[in-house]
Amino acid sequence: MVTNQKSVVTGAFGYSGKYIARRLLDSGAEVRTITNAPESQNPFGSRVKSLPFSFDDHVRLVAAMRGATVLYNTYWVRFNHANFKQVDAVQNTLALFRAAREAGVRRVVHFSITNPSEESPLEYFRSKAILEKALIGSGMSYAILRPTVLFGPEDVLVNNIAWLLRKFPFFGVFGDGSYQLQPMFVDDMAKLAVAQGEENGSHIIDAIGPETFTYRELVTQIGRIIGVSKPIVSVPPAIGHLIGWAAGKIVNDIIITREEIKGLMAGLLCTNSKPTGETSLTEWVTANRDMLGARYASELSRRKGRMTGPLGSLS
Ligand SMILES: NC(=O)c1ccc[n+]([C@@H]2O[C@H](COP(=O)([O-])OP(=O)(O)OC[C@H]3O[C@@H](n4cnc5c(N)ncnc54)[C@H](OP(=O)(O)O)[C@@H]3O)[C@@H](O)[C@H]2O)c1
Repeated sequence: MVTNQKSVVTGAFGYSGKYIARRLLDSGAEVRTITNAPESQNPFGSRVKSLPFSFDDHVRLVAAMRGATVLYNTYWVRFNHANFKQVDAVQNTLALFRAAREAGVRRVVHFSITNPSEESPLEYFRSKAILEKALIGSGMSYAILRPTVLFGPEDVLVNNIAWLLRKFPFFGVFGDGSYQLQPMFVDDMAKLAVAQGEENGSHIIDAIGPETFTYRELVTQIGRIIGVSKPIVSVPPAIGHLIGWAAGKIVNDIIITREEIKGLMAGLLCTNSKPTGETSLTEWVTANRDMLGARYASELSRRKGRMTGPLGSLS
């Protein structure tokens, strides 16, 4: 695919944003990013111009997107923390949509989550539903992509399952571990996003991989492939959270939150849709078995070194 698209990608030096930017550049698109990441984390050099998030400065936010045709929005915060909150991320995203519209952006490719619902008791899923509704009502054309768990070289969840399996004498699954998930390869996600950027119609698409695992099967498969055999035991979710919290203290991170456990156990990371990704997690883990889980992947460390922004900096 060759394009003369002028794109803005939020977080192009981050996880999924980097894969989107790479694919866009390869297709000839002009790429700008809005990010809090410092220039030292820019793997694209002068090919990607970076501007800071300025959610509280509408004029500046509009200017950052002026002339762009497509906005790829990955921006979100995974959980609430002293330095960042999902309630702020909702307001920031609404500000981003307003600015995109004023800047004349034609289309927004927006990252949501599987099974969002305004009625959900879980803030993540509820907030994502509110943002989907706002985008649908914005007047811009849109592709709302709803990913389940993403995996890839910079991944947190799959890597850290492998890390926990390597490090600890047993692995605790929350409850019976029978709830399902359909992991999506991060570059398949980027491929879908970039293809959607070229479309005109408005779509909502579940972004799910070709394999469906129960959580217990996922842990078992990862352990088998990396050659680590540990007992996988059922633990009550509250105890599982406590163990995760304590392990998080050791690595100075938040490994998993109560809300994430609830979302997982409610089966919210699984859909009835046809797979939109091609890469099999099993094959990918096999190809990466030596490096997977060799080191802990820290969510909070990723935020270190970010420029001070409206949500503050951890550095
Ligand atoms: N990763 C998954 O497994 C997964 C699963 C389901 C849905 N999703 C959705 O997919 C999208 C992209 O996820 P991703 O994992 O690729 O995200 P990411 O790269 O970690 O972050 C995406 C953007 O959000 C910003 N951001 C993240 N955490 C932040 C914080 N605490 N404070 C301020 N800004 C923050 C990043 O900031 P910088 O500009 O500073 O990098 C970046 O611009 C999100 O909307 C997420 O809800 C992801």
